[in-house]
Amino acid sequence: MSVLVTGGAGYIGSHTAVELLNAGKDIVIIDDFSNSKPEVLENIKKITGKDFKFYEMDYADREKLEKVFEENNIDSVMNFAGFKAVGESTKKPIEYYINNVSGALVLFDTMRKYNVKKFVFSSSATVYGPENPIPYKEDMPVGTASSPYGSTKIFIEQILKDIYKADNEWSVALLRYFNPIGSHESGLLGEEPQGIPNNLMPYIVRVACGQLKELSVFGGDYDTPDGTCIRDYLHVVDLAKGHIKALDKLNEGNGVYIYNLGTGVGYSVLDVVNTFMKATGKDVPYRITERRAGDLPAFYADATKAEKELGWKAEKSLEDMCRDSWHYIEVSRKNG
Ligand code: UFG
Repeated sequence: MSVLVTGGAGYIGSHTAVELLNAGKDIVIIDDFSNSKPEVLENIKKITGKDFKFYEMDYADREKLEKVFEENNIDSVMNFAGFKAVGESTKKPIEYYINNVSGALVLFDTMRKYNVKKFVFSSSATVYGPENPIPYKEDMPVGTASSPYGSTKIFIEQILKDIYKADNEWSVALLRYFNPIGSHESGLLGEEPQGIPNNLMPYIVRVACGQLKELSVFGGDYDTPDGTCIRDYLHVVDLAKGHIKALDKLNEGNGVYIYNLGTGVGYSVLDVVNTFMKATGKDVPYRITERRAGDLPAFYADATKAEKELGWKAEKSLEDMCRDSWHYIEVSRKNG
């Protein structure tokens, strides 16, 4: 029996592939390298000492996807092939809806055809929207999305709930990620956004290595202790481990399970910058600038449900996250 990992060469997919292999699972990876590199697959093998089958393809290519299901004994699926840049989604809504929503529907339809009904969905804290109070809890109503990217997460959550309503043999985990940062401690896997990064940690790292001059801290006048936005940053390896626990849960019984994957602790932008400088000894020049449109002042998870029901708790500190993010850059540079 194998777990199909779509987008398995990407940032979160590759870290989860490692944890799946470490947990003794067989996996099959699909990736089209639209936002990842082939070397990642070798690095997954290097870290785990294990092999897996790989298909270079778009996960929404129905014909090829059917072949993958025919050639392998797949019993569950994790999908990391979604597009994830909030800003880009506002400029390319059609591309986001086609890849994230239509693609997911092709995947679900194919799963149904091959009687595979266990699915772990990479959702996001963004589904809580601006309406809900913090900390966010899983039983709060879904809010309003602030971008097409966010809408795709809300839509797919609803689609999966409807699928389960129609067929109780499905077992689905909706994992609402908070802000994953950090890298595998080996330095062999990490986040490599193309062009100028939109997210905080990739930007900090580029400033620290001199590729970018300074960090713009978007807004210093929020109603938070230091005036900068607060987020729940969690280490990507902790996040990846959460997927293994969720998969175990799906194997216990059918249903739709919703979990926040966060630490439950909020840190400000300046907390992250200062911790990064302390953990790495690198300087990160920054300047407080205008607020970024669409940013919420503060949100973090109530992470108690995942701990109670999955036995999952984020273990790594903000310092670990900063150190490992930097280590990845150092190793990448050394390896050319
Ligand atoms: N920030 C800066 N400067 C930068 C980049 C970011 O100050 O150059 C700040 C942002 O204003 C925000 C914080 O750093 O306060 C975190 O920003 P990110 O872009 O790293 O993350 P977001 O919280 O905006 O977005 C993340 C994920 C999305 C997800 C969203 C949930 O990237 O996938 O959380 O709302 F949808």
